[in-house]
Amino acid sequence: MRYAFHVMRYAIKFMPKKQTRELTDVLTTSARIYQPSKEVLDRATVKDVEKVRKAAEKDPLKFWEEAANDLSWFTKWKKVFGGRKPFYQWFIGAKTNLAYNALDRHAEGENRDKTAIISEDETGRTRRYTYFELYKEVNKLVNALKAAKVKKGDRVAIYMPNIPEIAMAMLACAKIGAMHSVVYAGYSAAALADRINDAKAKVLFTADGSWRRGKAVDLKTIADEALKLTKTVKKVIVTKNNNQNVSLTAGRDVWFHDFIKGQSEKAKCAQMDAEDPAFVLYTSGTTSKPKGVIHVHGGYQVGVLRTIKWVFDLKGDEIFWCTADPGWITGHSYIIYGPLLAGITTLQYEGVPDMPEPDRIWQIVEKYNVNVLYTAPTLIRAMAKYGDEWPDKHAMPSLRLLGSVGEPINPEAWLWYHKHIGKGRLPIMDTWWQTETGMHMITPLPATPLKPGSATKPFPGIIADVVDKNGKRVPTGKGGFLVIRNQWPSMIRTIFNNPDRYVKTYWKEIKGVYFTGDVAFKDKDGYFWIQGRTDDVLKIAGHRIGTAEVESGFVAHKAVAECGVIGVPDPVKGEVIKAFVILKQGFEGSDVLKQELVACVRKSIGPVAVIKDVAFTDKLPKTRSGKIMRRVLKAQELGLDVGDTSALVS
Ligand code: WT7
Repeated sequence: MRYAFHVMRYAIKFMPKKQTRELTDVLTTSARIYQPSKEVLDRATVKDVEKVRKAAEKDPLKFWEEAANDLSWFTKWKKVFGGRKPFYQWFIGAKTNLAYNALDRHAEGENRDKTAIISEDETGRTRRYTYFELYKEVNKLVNALKAAKVKKGDRVAIYMPNIPEIAMAMLACAKIGAMHSVVYAGYSAAALADRINDAKAKVLFTADGSWRRGKAVDLKTIADEALKLTKTVKKVIVTKNNNQNVSLTAGRDVWFHDFIKGQSEKAKCAQMDAEDPAFVLYTSGTTSKPKGVIHVHGGYQVGVLRTIKWVFDLKGDEIFWCTADPGWITGHSYIIYGPLLAGITTLQYEGVPDMPEPDRIWQIVEKYNVNVLYTAPTLIRAMAKYGDEWPDKHAMPSLRLLGSVGEPINPEAWLWYHKHIGKGRLPIMDTWWQTETGMHMITPLPATPLKPGSATKPFPGIIADVVDKNGKRVPTGKGGFLVIRNQWPSMIRTIFNNPDRYVKTYWKEIKGVYFTGDVAFKDKDGYFWIQGRTDDVLKIAGHRIGTAEVESGFVAHKAVAECGVIGVPDPVKGEVIKAFVILKQGFEGSDVLKQELVACVRKSIGPVAVIKDVAFTDKLPKTRSGKIMRRVLKAQELGLDVGDTSALVS
């Protein structure tokens, strides 16, 4: 059933006609609508979602200006919106600082003694920081970084586990006005080096290591490998996290605790222009070179704060747990910045969800009285596989709202999440968004009637549509390209050092609109059903990986002449990789070679690229210009109609 669902979603992408209609009918008409309970409605900040959406659609600038007033600005804006398309600008002329709003204003105000961060690792070690304590640590780090000559505009790479020090490093950079570039700790040395080199980072934050499934991950060793491939990093700051033996290179490497020792607990906050970049975050695209997505100090915080407050209906004291990793945008926006901007408590868990037993997640929810749990379909499916008894042992009375993100959630997983975690009473906020959007874009609010598997409707102020390649709206129920017709404050500003790629990727594919790269359809109630990516981007356990990146990982092996990679449906991870490989003359396909190839890809990307299968072949479907037609490979693999093959050289 799950497999069938994935294939169905995939099929819709390539079936333009009557068949599509039939499939979408199966998905939508069987969907029961879940109305919000009285409890949810009574509490909801936004009760009449449609009314608010209509008002925001009529005057989005007014809507966002009001949202901006929830934040502190050193100087107010002269104009809410402007710039030259597609280099849009928000809150023009304003001065602000992302870290000031996420930290300083709380530490200096009434949230001073509130817990900002609770952290727990796999072994059960727990730490807590109040806003004031976090502020003092960040200030020491700011002063130490300044002493190390880090200044506004510099890039600082961060390769760390999900621990409080990663938040400190990010906030300290933002406070100085240096751009952080967080690289997910599941990336390999080569991938880390690529990102450091593209950003020309001069500092690297890392840790000795991290526990994962009871095993030590040698982050410092991987970082050392990466540093052999880079020239720009002058200082490496190492958090002592799991007491692993590591070697420090004299003059370059320093322990985090030594680095901040003796520094003042007060630090000045840089007054940043609203349009100054706050960070770069690399994400996969259609080529093998990842894109450095730029977000700025002003608009980003406005979008993130308004969405976290409304989508999760936050008021006052809340414990918010987003199970993502700070290495992805979900972690940036909804582990670190969002909760802190909202002045609530965020939980960081450094470990896997099923250690020591498959109810670790539900145990943590009960232990800390988590109010909102925000996780990914892949985790939900993995937990469901262990059996209902694990969550059923836990009443989790503190939970009042659930969230999902990263990939389409299949109705079956949605229903399991609702029944066993939400105990049949909690609504699920299925939030569709991207690294580039910075914030939720298509999502329910708590008062929205829900259909399992649909992200419902655009957030107020966002105008989304489903169109054909000419930008023409497609009829209800028919699959097409998901686009955004207007602009929003936390949108990507450019690609680091590559404005042309920014224009080409997002604004040239379909004229006049922002191109998301996703396929979707709208049902008769105007609900959006996201089908997945239309480009060569894979979603593996919700992580975004480019097929071209994986292919270059394969081709790096001496035996490989050519390679084409596709995503195939997986009942837990959503998608996993299947590779079709042509070997060079003189090499023979074998299981040993398969393992070698998998290891080679792991070396070039990291464990995030989950390879399910390698098939040796002597031919790949190609266009006349020699491009591998992954679409054809995929249709053949799934036994579907190959569609239009006029470009294929037989
Ligand atoms: C892609 C963006 C931004 C969150 C983390 C991933 C897919 C994300 C959903 C959802 C269906 C989703 C899309 C999107 N996606 N959320 N709720 N339903 N698909 O960020 O790595 O930039 O990936 O994730 O395909 O384009 P990302």
